[in-house]
Amino acid sequence: MNLTKLRRQFPALMQQVAGKSPIFLDGPGGSQVPQQVLSAMSAYLGYYNSNLGGAFFSSDKTVELMANARQAAADLLNAPSRDQIVFGANMTSLTFSFSRAISRDWQAGDEIIVTNADHYSNVSSWQQAAEDQGVKVNTVLINEADCSLDLAHFASLLNQNTKLVAVTYASNTTGSINDIQRIVAMAHEVGALVYVDAVHYAPHELVDVQALDCDFLACSAYKFFGPHLGMVYGKREHLEGFTPYKVEPAKDAIPGRWETGTQSFEALAGLIAAVDYIADISELDDSHSRRDKLAAAFTKTKQHEMALSEHFLTRLVNYPKIRLFGIDDLERLSQRTPTFALTFEGLEPRQVSEFLGKQHICVWDGNFYAQGLCEQLGVLDKGGVVRIGCMHYNTIEELDKLFDLFDQLI
Ligand SMILES: Cc1ncc(COP(=O)(O)O)c(C=O)c1O
Repeated sequence: MNLTKLRRQFPALMQQVAGKSPIFLDGPGGSQVPQQVLSAMSAYLGYYNSNLGGAFFSSDKTVELMANARQAAADLLNAPSRDQIVFGANMTSLTFSFSRAISRDWQAGDEIIVTNADHYSNVSSWQQAAEDQGVKVNTVLINEADCSLDLAHFASLLNQNTKLVAVTYASNTTGSINDIQRIVAMAHEVGALVYVDAVHYAPHELVDVQALDCDFLACSAYKFFGPHLGMVYGKREHLEGFTPYKVEPAKDAIPGRWETGTQSFEALAGLIAAVDYIADISELDDSHSRRDKLAAAFTKTKQHEMALSEHFLTRLVNYPKIRLFGIDDLERLSQRTPTFALTFEGLEPRQVSEFLGKQHICVWDGNFYAQGLCEQLGVLDKGGVVRIGCMHYNTIEELDKLFDLFDQLI
């Protein structure tokens, strides 16, 4: 992977702020955006801004764009058909809307499972639906030593009454990746559906909804180099079988029946360009399918991200006043994303992020809506953690600059 060439595609990475190159380690909160995404969005708005179903060229273009965006998302997730991709404003609002529809026939005595590894968009939506239907909510704990999901605890909570399991593919706070294929197989054994939050996972690794056999999977384009846009994959039988709440004249056919109002067409233009940006990292020619290019691209980015994780964790060992929550074993780098949750002895997370922010190193502090996780780790009422979030565009040199500042800080 030619990192210099790749980084040149991102205006944000090339800018100078007060004479310095900013360092973006805030990727899990929203990644930076390459020029081809910006150009696609401005071209749509500049030349074709319209709506669906008109008898003129820009409306035709919008219809075509929508189909192409669904295909790009289907390629990214390996959905069997583009009709199984639903778009919306963001993952949270889509998950709310799916939770209302999926919970319609839940009854007292039914149960659902959520986890302490999850962002609360994949917890609260289900908790509120459960409360409305009188359904019991069980919560899977994490193993505090490495912040992985406690699968023995999960197994003990599953039973014939379990209707749904809502689980994250990877923690947006600690980077720990969950074995979704296994979780889905266990859930399906008792007849429960599985709703996967792939928001944090999707920028780092190739998603394959068919291999996972999950019932639903949600992600957000602004985390994988695109614009603010959410999407949900669903199995055809579920998208056709469940009944969404929708306005009367809206379509009954999938996927339109799940989409409320006018979509952000400029964001859909950006999504296509973001998926193509990732595919282009493969440097494969057009004799290969976009899906094959994506697979090759993620192999490259994962390799680089594992090198970043190895460097970060190896250097961190020399800082006894910094505590890491999550996987620190160099033999297990493939089980994590390069996202690191830290606390600093004697310093509030906000003090650390402010200090770094003054040097134009962008990192987030807080709980990142991973409320259950921060509560279980005992940091919820202490300002959460400092999150160092690397993406494939980050460099070893940037991490070294970060550690130089840790030296000044401690
Ligand atoms: C793991 C995870 N899930 C869900 C969300 C919510 O996504 P959205 O902002 O698209 O609603 C986020 C946002 O940070 C996240 O990190």
